[in-house]
Amino acid sequence: MERNKVTIADLTQKKETGRKITMMTAYDYPTAKLVDEAGIDTILVGDSLAMVVLGHESTVPVTVDEMLHHCKAVRRGANKSLLLGDMPFMSYQISSEKAVENAARFIKEAGCDTVKLEGGTEMAPIVSAIVRAGIPVCGHIGLTPQTATKLGGFKVQGRDAESARQLLKSAKDLEEAGAFMLLLECIPDLLAARITREIKIPTIGIGAGKDCDGQVLVFHDLVGLFERFTPKFAKQYVNLSPMIRKALAEYKKEVEESSFPGPDHTFSMRKEEAEAI
Ligand code: KIV
Repeated sequence: MERNKVTIADLTQKKETGRKITMMTAYDYPTAKLVDEAGIDTILVGDSLAMVVLGHESTVPVTVDEMLHHCKAVRRGANKSLLLGDMPFMSYQISSEKAVENAARFIKEAGCDTVKLEGGTEMAPIVSAIVRAGIPVCGHIGLTPQTATKLGGFKVQGRDAESARQLLKSAKDLEEAGAFMLLLECIPDLLAARITREIKIPTIGIGAGKDCDGQVLVFHDLVGLFERFTPKFAKQYVNLSPMIRKALAEYKKEVEESSFPGPDHTFSMRKEEAEAI
């Protein structure tokens, strides 16, 4: 059955009726097309792009222009899924004006439906300014990779009552600021469940247990294409890297021994024409 384009109202309704929301990252046209055709509700062009596609050590170096380049490709492949563009480090922290300006580029230039940005209570005024400008914002709290150094590294957040209370407050402040959804990364399942119960907007978990309103994974973790490290929360559904290595080795061998291209991959011409050249 042909599905309709997913809207924010659909996601809210899913939360209200207890149906899980699906999200997957994508960074290019073919992947976006596969994700969209799989019926995944939302596609995030995450700043994880910096690591899994561009080969950086962290998400910090990726620029707005680089993000937009990939968002545009994803937009061309994503017909029905709601598209979120991830605002990179320092594209929204400096001032509300700068944040609105950059958020608008994701919508106007790249065709994203919404943006996502990292940070809790301290980011509420920025979220509010972007929302007031007419751009839907998804928040992101818990482990926020752009500021991982400040958080003491890539560690589970909110394990003690004090920091958990702060994360719960952040969730409420972001909801109050107008965020339409909230991504919860690397926090204990009991805290994620509590946040999910106490706010009306949907929560999307990654390393936050099963009681969030939905889940997200990084595409390259799901298919085994990022081999530098695998986070505990990432489930690999297929391991493509060895398959690709095998295909490349076979190709190399066949070219070197002249068995590729064979007749099936070759164009012919009449002998007389070849002789008349
Ligand atoms: O950039 C990203 O891919 C993310 C993940 C948490 C999904 O933000």
